[in-house]
Parts: sequence; C-alpha cells; structure tokens
Amino acid sequence: MQTHEIRKRFLDHFIKAGHVEVPSASLILDDPNLLFVNAGMVPFKPYFLGEQTPQYVRATSIQKCVRTLDIEEVGITTRHNTFFQMAGNFSFGDYFKREAIGFAWTLLTNPVDDGGFGIDPLRLWPTVYLDDDEAFAIWRDEIGVPAERIQRRGMKDNYWSMGVPGPCGPCSEIFYDRGPEYGIEGGPEADEDRYIEIWNLVFMQNERGPGGGKDGYEILGPLPKQNIDTGMGIERVACILQDVDNVYETDLLAPVIGVAERLTGRTYGADPADSVRFRVIADHARTAVMLIADGITPGNDGRGYVLRRLLRRIVRSVRLLGATGAAMKEFVEAVIDTMTASYPELADQRARIVSLSVGEEDAFLKTLTAGSRLFDDAAETTKASGATRISGKDAFALHDTYGFPIDLTLEMAAEAGLSVDEDGFKVLMTEQRQRAKADATARKSGHADLSVYREFLDRGPTVFTGFDELTSESKVLGLVADGQRVRSAVAGQEIEVILDRSPLYAEAGGQIADIGTITTSSGLRLTVKDVQKVGKSVWLHRAVIDEGEIAEGDVVLTQVDAAWRHGATQGHSGTHLVGAALRQVLGPTATQAGSLNRPGYLRFDFASQGALTEAQRTEIEEITNAAVEANYPVNTFETGIDDARAMGALALFGENYGDVVRVVEMGGPFSMELCGGTHVGSSAQVGPVTLLGESSVGSGVRRVEAYVGLDSYRYLAKERALLAGLATSLKVPSDQVPGRVESLVTKLKEAEKQIEKMRADAAKASVGSLIDEATRVGDVLVVAGKLDGMDAGDLRTLAADLRGRVGSDNAVVVLFSASGDKVPFAVATTAAARDAGIKAGDLVRDLAPLVSGRGGGKPDLAQGSGSDAKGIDSALVRLRELVGSAR
Ligand code: ALA
Repeated sequence: MQTHEIRKRFLDHFIKAGHVEVPSASLILDDPNLLFVNAGMVPFKPYFLGEQTPQYVRATSIQKCVRTLDIEEVGITTRHNTFFQMAGNFSFGDYFKREAIGFAWTLLTNPVDDGGFGIDPLRLWPTVYLDDDEAFAIWRDEIGVPAERIQRRGMKDNYWSMGVPGPCGPCSEIFYDRGPEYGIEGGPEADEDRYIEIWNLVFMQNERGPGGGKDGYEILGPLPKQNIDTGMGIERVACILQDVDNVYETDLLAPVIGVAERLTGRTYGADPADSVRFRVIADHARTAVMLIADGITPGNDGRGYVLRRLLRRIVRSVRLLGATGAAMKEFVEAVIDTMTASYPELADQRARIVSLSVGEEDAFLKTLTAGSRLFDDAAETTKASGATRISGKDAFALHDTYGFPIDLTLEMAAEAGLSVDEDGFKVLMTEQRQRAKADATARKSGHADLSVYREFLDRGPTVFTGFDELTSESKVLGLVADGQRVRSAVAGQEIEVILDRSPLYAEAGGQIADIGTITTSSGLRLTVKDVQKVGKSVWLHRAVIDEGEIAEGDVVLTQVDAAWRHGATQGHSGTHLVGAALRQVLGPTATQAGSLNRPGYLRFDFASQGALTEAQRTEIEEITNAAVEANYPVNTFETGIDDARAMGALALFGENYGDVVRVVEMGGPFSMELCGGTHVGSSAQVGPVTLLGESSVGSGVRRVEAYVGLDSYRYLAKERALLAGLATSLKVPSDQVPGRVESLVTKLKEAEKQIEKMRADAAKASVGSLIDEATRVGDVLVVAGKLDGMDAGDLRTLAADLRGRVGSDNAVVVLFSASGDKVPFAVATTAAARDAGIKAGDLVRDLAPLVSGRGGGKPDLAQGSGSDAKGIDSALVRLRELVGSAR
C-alpha cells in the first residue's frame, strides 16, 4: 500500500468517527521550546495546556515532523528518519482510553477491503504503563489480546510528556512483530528492532513538574480534563505494508536511493557501509526539501544550521560513495517528485528549493577544497614532527571551521597513513555540546515564565483597537514587575501592563511595536516603550511610570504616539510595495525571507541566488515609486484562508494562519498579502521610497533596505548637499562634477607617472658617480651605493645597468635602498668576478640578516629585502670582507 493511500485511510477512519481534519502546521511553529515541530500534538499545545479552547473536541491530522537529535543514527538503524509524518487523533476532554485503543486497533486490523490496513492481529504487541491496569484490561478483555502479548513498561518507555512542565500521562504503544529473521523472541521488552513501534497512544491525564530526562520529574496531580494524543508513524506503517526491510526503502524514499545509485555507479545493498550512505542521502534530501519548503535557508545557527548540516552530510555521503561532482539537484528533484502527491505546494517551490540546495552544495564543495588544504597542512606538520596522529585540536578545527564531520577527517587521515586523536576531538566536541545545552536550557525558561500570565491567557485575547483609533479607553487587568504579579506600582518603576483593549500595535510580522502613553485625568502617566505578545494573544505593554500610581482595575487612556505610528505604517506599506516590485522584476521565486520596518525605514529579505544588478535595482525603485504616485487606496478585509489564497493573496512561509485571515491589498493584483499590520490609507502616503543598497545575508538570501517618507527626502537632501559641496570645491555646475572628477583623476595619474620617470632618470644620472667613487678590494672593483626611495625592480635594473658600464672589469655592484620600512637591495657581478668565485646569490644570502631580511638569486644577479635600514652600513662593511675572503 502506497504512503499516500496510508495517509488517506488514516484520515478517513477518524473523520468517519467524528474528528475534524486539521492540516499539518509548518515545521517551524513559533515555540520557544522547539527548533522544529516534532510531534503531531505540537500545534494543539494551547488546547492541552488550557490556554485556548478548541472549536472541536475531536481532531485528526498528519503532521510534518523533524527530529534531528539522533542524526548520526540515520541509516544505521532501520527506523529513524529525520523527517517523518506523524498521523494522530486527538480528544480534548472527550473520549479517553477505551475509544482510543479501539480506534487504533480497528484501523490497523480491519481488512484492506474495509478501509483498514489489514495487519494480522497476531503480530501486534501492545505495551502499557506499569500500573495502568485499566488499559491492560481493555487490551485483554475488550480487544482480546492474550495477556502474554501485553507488556508493562516503566516511565522511560510508557510515560509521555512534552519534556517541560505541563500535561502528561501514561501511554500505550503498539508494536509490530517483523518475525524471527529480525531478532529474538520476547516482545518489545526484548528487541525493538524485531518488534517495531508503530503507534503511541498517550492518555493525558496528569500535570507534571520541572525536571530532566524521560523520568526525572514529579507528577503534580490530575488534569481537570482527560485528553487523548496519539501518534502513528506513517513511514513505519509503510515499511510494514510494503514489506520492505527499513523505512528508507519505502515508496517515497527508494527513488532517491535509485538516483544515488545511478550517479555514483555503486549498488545499494552490496556493501553495508555504502548502504548506510545511500540511506543518509535519501533521508536527508527529503528533510532538506521539506525544511526549505517551510522557509528555512541554510545558515550558521539554529534551524539554518540543521539544514546546512543535512545538506553537507549528503555531499559527504556522495563523496564517500566515490563520486566527486555535483549531485544535489537530482536528489531534491526526486524528492519533490515523490512528495508532491501529499504536499502539492512543493511543485510551486521547485525552483527555489533546487536553487538553495544546489547553492549550498556548491559552497560546501569549495569548503571541502579549502578544508582539504587545512587538512594537508595538519598532516604535513604531524609528519614533520615525527608523529603519526593528527591532533584532536586540528580535527576539531576542521569540524568547526569547515564543517568536516569526524569520519571525513578519519578517512582522509587513513589515506595519508595517519590516525586521529579521537579522544581529544571528543573532549572538545563535548565542551561545545555543553555550551549548546546551556543555550537550550535558557530557551526553555521562556516557557516556564508564562505561568504569570496564565490568568490573562485564560481570560482571552487583548482587543486591538488600533486599526480604527489611536486613543482608547482601557481597563488595567493586571501588572507584572520583574516577573511577579503586583497589584499596583508607583513612579520610577518599570512595569508590564495588561489591558483589556489597546490601540498600540504589538510587534509582529516585521513591524516593530508602537510607542505611546497610558494616562489618567488624575495625574498618572506612563511611557510605553515596547509592546510584545505573550501566547500570541495577550499584549504586554512595557512601560515606565513617569508620574502617579497605577493599580489593577484602573480605567486609563491608552494613546499611540501618532507620529511614530504614521512612520511605522509608511514603513510597513512601503515593505509591501517594494516586495511587489521585487517580484515583478525577479519573478515569483523571490519569496520573502523576513522583513523589518520602523518609522522611516524598511528592510526586506528575499530568496535569490545572485546579487541584484544595478538595472534591476533601478527598476524596482522605479516601480515602487510609480505605485506610490498611483495613489492606490489600501484596502484591508477579512476572509477565509482558502478564499484569500484563491484570490492570489501572498502568504509567508512558515507562518501559521487561522481560518480567517486579514488581507491587505494595494492596486488590486499589484500587491495583495495576508498581513496583520497597520498601513497607510493610500499608497501616496508612503512618500518617496529610496533604495539604499543590496547585500547578502547568507546563502541564497539577499537584502534590500530603503528609506520612506520624510526620511527618504532627508537622505536625498543630504546627497544633494554633498554634490553641491563638491561642485563648489571644483568650481563647476553640479552636472559637470562627474566629468571634472574623471579628468582630475586622469591628470593625477599622468602626473604620478611623470614623477616616477623623473625620479628614475635622476637616479640613473646620479649612479654614474657611484662608479667614480668605487674602490677596490684586492683587484675586485666594488661599486656600492645607498639610494633612497627605490623599489626592488628599480634597484635590480640599476644594478644590471652599472654592471654593464664597468664592462669586462672584475666587479661587484651592490645597491641598497631605504623606502618606508622596506629595505630592498640588489647585487650584480661581472663575468670576471664570477670566474673569481664571487656569486651574487651567495652575497645576498649572507648580507640579508644584517638588514633583518631574506633574499637570494643567481650568481650574476640577486636581490633581497629587509626591514632594518640601520644595518645597511654594516652590510656594506661585511660585503668588503666577503669579497676579500672570496679571493
Ligand atoms: N505525542 C506522542 C508522541 O510523540 C503521541 O509519541
């Protein structure tokens, strides 16, 4: 049974049983605890935590998940994918254990003709938590599984939580017995390769406290409601129903292995180490495609780094399979082809996905070359010191700087007949990991802090009045100072204020927060410096109290700084206009990868492999300003997400939208985006837009920045003043400034050339006298001189010239110069001198240390360079000694 069919049957089964189908959320839900969505229940967290009330009590979904903690395990075990699809059914205070177990059992064991998976019940082994007699009894008495095939397991295996304080509960897992050829008898307790886990049913009935690991926390007590959260691994079920050995050989991944076989000329299955590499390529290529599709670009930290690491591991695996060229394009295309049936959005993004992953491959192939050089140096130093082991420090540097995985270093070392200090490497890696762990712990604390706001989250969202008015009457619902609830606060204190309604915009979607004031007629005055959302729905007004005392229950006047807001709306509407112009010029692949706007300024990041050309930049600016001049009315309206998409409204990657969305439209098809921000009334109010420049912000992502409104004017006015200043200095009208500057530069260059020539002529004229002043050491004529300001080339020419002038005499010419902190020098010998055993190269080598330098050359002409002009005199003395002793 094909994967697509497995997905469909799962959803149909639960929809028939009254569940609402919820589409998969993006892999990058905004959650302080998670790098990626890693379980089907993540998008439902606010419901389980009681932060929000769902509109349904039964739901089902197939959620995209990424887990990269065990990345090194991929391809080695038979069941670990970094990307996988978790099929789940959820009950929010509705059904519990009995129904959850029943639903799972019927889907797994119902005949294929009946909509089920047709799995032989004798192959299924459930597990339950140690003391969960209720679940045990349901399995044995109601489902009819013999007691000896139900195993009781401890907290590590059969207790599930999100890893942080919150809901949790015992679980019951269902394993499939793959048969004796896969391992020993004895159920999942004995062997989890033979007995493969396919479904986890979590009975969420308790609340847990803080603590680490799978069992290092306390159970605080029962939840008010009992919930169900289940997760069935689509890939694992596919592996069973397609009767293949492992998840990498299922219908969605096998084609990628096929491509890798073709490109490397090796055969999957022929060699165990190679097979792991094939599986790594298939697994990682798929995960990379899905991550890029959700808006992630390769980078050096966080999610971007995970993506980069996956792509690099593919490049390395290809190399280990004996191929050296580029291969990425074919892998990602194969993934897109197999995955599009379930994820149609991949087809639209093909060009972008290919371009980003191929860009990363290119870069890493170059890195591999640079890293190989560092490796060669390390290998050479190791050998030169008589050792045979590359240090842990070098291996770590290769890993850290060039992204060389240790096995790549090991392999290259082996080729060079060396070993690697793996222990030393591991120590450095552990230190690095500990640093990363400390970071992760810091991330989690953001979540625990939410408890202070729980009451407000329960009460419901802050009403945003700021689309219609800049001043609102609000009620103070609560105050938080230093992370603690307080009833009142006085002048001088910094405080977070929670209001029932507010006209101030809380930072979101690239638009920074409004500033403003909170006042009362009785003399209270707060300055609001920032507004942030907690739990996506409650506004925290971060303010300092200037005068008076504020208390819970106060009725206050909340006011947006109007000038600030005007600037912010100009920035935000300007961002939409620039984005639209950019897509018009570059095409739809120039998708938005982030933006920021504040009064007077905007920044827009977009996907693109190359830099914008000057012509493209000009065109984008022109289209934007034409849209400003067209004075398009800005229309905002709410509609269903599907209708909005059908209209062609642009949605952002990685953003999770509700069913009802707000659309902001300017100039009809020109710009239509899903957006919750504040905007100007019509495009002319954005004012002039001036692009400042364009730069790179990582592989495949470019950034444009612009000024809008008065700031744009001020910027241009400054440029104009600069030009006017130049025109005055150059005494020409401003339109003649470029011509004048060009002619000045040309003149300057000519003058420099002339000076150069005159200096050389003067030097030549003066060197004649060096011959007159020359003295003999024995019968050798020594022509020596110090000439200032000559470079090495000048000296060499002069030395050769002087040698020519002394003719057939037995002579040595030595010239030193001091030019800046350099001391170039040159030596030339005549044939007669060389016959007498005097060699220019030897002389240069001997003299060089006296001016703290180095040098060498042929017997007839040699040169050197030093840095210590004070040594020239002693060098000249030494020269005479050397000439004397040569004879
Ligand atoms: N949330 C449960 C899991 O991830 C189903 O295993």
